[in-house]
Amino acid sequence: MGERVGILVISYGSRAAAVIDALNRSEDYKARFYVVDKQRNPFNVRHATKHVVIPDLDVGKICDFVEANKTEIDFGFCCPEKPIIAGVRDAVESKTGVAMICPTKRYAIEESKAAQRLLLEECCAEANPRFKLFPCASEYESVSEVKRAVWDFLDEIGDEVAVKPDKPAAGKGVGVWGDHFTSRERLFEHFMSIFDGGSDVIIEEKVEGEESSFQAFCDGKRLAVLPETRDYKRAFDADIGENTGGMGSYKDNKDWLPFMDKSDREEEERMVQKIFNQLRGNASNEGLRGIPFYVAFMHTGKGAKILEINSRPGDPEIQNVLPVLKSDFVDVCFRMIEGNLSRVECDAKATVVTYAVPMDYGGYRVKYSGNRRVDLSSAYALQEQYGDNLRIYPGSMELREDGHTYALGSRTVCTVGIGESIAEAREISLDGIRNIDGALWNRGDIGAEYHIERSVGRMRRGRG
Ligand code: AMP
Ligand code: GLY
Repeated sequence: MGERVGILVISYGSRAAAVIDALNRSEDYKARFYVVDKQRNPFNVRHATKHVVIPDLDVGKICDFVEANKTEIDFGFCCPEKPIIAGVRDAVESKTGVAMICPTKRYAIEESKAAQRLLLEECCAEANPRFKLFPCASEYESVSEVKRAVWDFLDEIGDEVAVKPDKPAAGKGVGVWGDHFTSRERLFEHFMSIFDGGSDVIIEEKVEGEESSFQAFCDGKRLAVLPETRDYKRAFDADIGENTGGMGSYKDNKDWLPFMDKSDREEEERMVQKIFNQLRGNASNEGLRGIPFYVAFMHTGKGAKILEINSRPGDPEIQNVLPVLKSDFVDVCFRMIEGNLSRVECDAKATVVTYAVPMDYGGYRVKYSGNRRVDLSSAYALQEQYGDNLRIYPGSMELREDGHTYALGSRTVCTVGIGESIAEAREISLDGIRNIDGALWNRGDIGAEYHIERSVGRMRRGRG
């Protein structure tokens, strides 16, 4: 039995269940969990010593919970971006003295995509597509004037662009030429739907290529890189439909993906290191503790571009990594706080995450008004067959007074399959999904051979 340690986990989605699961596997420490949750997530409720529901994850209320339990809590880990952007690290540390693992408000890099682009311009310009910011509270006097400004920019860079809100939208709200619109008028409608909503808009060059997600832990001095993953953002099989929070993801049994070379991965590491160097100043900057750079890359075959940077773990991408973390996760957390982080080791295994989501998620059904009860017992029973190679992480699910679990509005539950190959991991993940009882749906092609071969082919053509 290891040393007792109290850990605050701020939860949103199944990512937090994966964090708790990984901390719980520590051999050196016996973790007790103090969970701040959006709802009564059944996994978190089962594992928590204390569990509190704060639906809006308000920083003041989180501080009150930490203050009331601070003698029991050694450190906190924040999963979602909203409290990070609202300054949860700064507030909890200054008011309660409990160290937090996440960047300070100043380094909540996802707060502005325009600021990200300007930062990259300074330290890693090769990662930027051409872009322009259209501020909504600005000099434009009429819609036709806005339109003219948009048209002028399109005349300059061409119609093949992505149109994005300059605020975190978890991938939603992004419109891409050829996928979401094929005429300037439609593009402009998308633009105005963001602009009228009171958000600045970025238009940037459309980058054609293969996406991957890079993540790294950080203690302010060093980055400890994690294996690469591929997220499936689009709602439907074959990457059609609207952008979602992510329908699933895969990781290969090495640090890079089948469509990448080792050199692609090294290029990414060099780029992220440049961003880190720019922000860390002289050797060290504790404000960057946590996962300050979860980077969405687009690989074109002729160099990589950065689509977006977040200062938190990816959901579902971190669920690909934490189940195969070989290093003791509690120890890694202490090292991040103490400033002596070194390499983080993972098993050389492939993992596939598949999300089961409500019928009306991602536009699969316009409306679903039926029963939302979800029963995971048959899926859990499969763990007798697969052991640790199948993980089940409830996300937007709620344990109610009647003792049953229900799906709420967002991604309901994910299954993680772990295997020697992506194909093996995928079968386990899908078997888990098939055994979930509830009115849910899922993409069937996460980590599918045809999908990976398509990526490999496109990269080969891109390399020319
Ligand atoms: P973001 O929120 O910026 O990560 O964008 C969400 C998704 O939109 C990405 O995962 C891409 O699939 C797509 N996307 C964003 N920016 C671009 C771009 N410049 N070119 C092509 N696709 C993009
Ligand atoms: N997988 C998308 C995100 O975490 O933002």
